[in-house]
Amino acid sequence: MADKDSRRVVPVPSGKIPVIKGMVAAGAGTGITPSAPVLTVPRREITDADREFAERIAQVVKAVIDSGKYKPPLLPEIAVTLSAIANKPEVPIEEVEVAVSRDPVVAAKIVSVANSALNARGAALSSLRGAITRLGIFQVRDIAFQVVAGTRLFRVPGYSERMKELFEASQAAGMLAREIYRARGEISEAAYLCGLLHDIGEAVILGIIGEASRVRGETPPSLSRIKIAVDGYHAWIGAWVCKQWKLSDTVTDAILDHHTPERSTDPMQMAYVLALADRLLAHAGIGTEWQPITKSAAPLFQALKLSPERAASLLRLAESLNSMRAEWALPSV
Ligand SMILES: [Fe+2]
Repeated sequence: MADKDSRRVVPVPSGKIPVIKGMVAAGAGTGITPSAPVLTVPRREITDADREFAERIAQVVKAVIDSGKYKPPLLPEIAVTLSAIANKPEVPIEEVEVAVSRDPVVAAKIVSVANSALNARGAALSSLRGAITRLGIFQVRDIAFQVVAGTRLFRVPGYSERMKELFEASQAAGMLAREIYRARGEISEAAYLCGLLHDIGEAVILGIIGEASRVRGETPPSLSRIKIAVDGYHAWIGAWVCKQWKLSDTVTDAILDHHTPERSTDPMQMAYVLALADRLLAHAGIGTEWQPITKSAAPLFQALKLSPERAASLLRLAESLNSMRAEWALPSV
């Protein structure tokens, strides 16, 4: 199989970063709003000064990554190990159990999920091996990533409120991505992970900016001042980070194109699924400014060959998301 990464994932573009132009092109004709508004950023006119500041910020981020010294957030061993095991043709249950048992938080969560109403088939489980067997390797991997995201990845000093929103929206996106495939009569083993990590680039950018501010002894800039840089860059940086973490091409490519799904050639259309999940989140007002779906989302439903009935059922699901928000809160550490 050809290496898709050599085709698409560019480590860092050279020259001036077309933050603004790229954003405009990203949404053209897709029904997606590329500059997804954020709850913590009040809607206001973007001034020339904002654009100049955002371009400077983008250049700082680029310089940090270009330097070769930047290391993406460390992915804990449990996530690395489970990700690798999930990619094997045969899954050795002993290896999974050993990996999970080294992380008590993940182990406890796996047993809890295995015994949840949705998964409980028969007697309650107390053994880790039984829980792993009941859930399967992909769900076990997804739970580990969910824990890691909540305890490590979505933790950025100076931007804690936005991190709470982002973590909540990421978990909802994972669930929605899985449900979109289900509505198509399909299963994707990567759907939840793609949804969970699709905006990880935003956390990384905020982390770089927060650290640069700390080193200079400055207060981190407000979200509204850096919004253009984040909107224009997060997909690309998210894909770059996932590639550093050695996640699959499916994950990397879908994250790269989640605001430009028309560029993707993935037959499973994961980038379109993420774009629709994002749009459904906006419909619910989770992680972004509330933006009810109108006909503007029709191209996404059509691209995914979702009938009006299935589209309606996904909209109903999105409208019920707010009642689940308590489950997705960022854990206190
Ligand atoms: Fe995004």
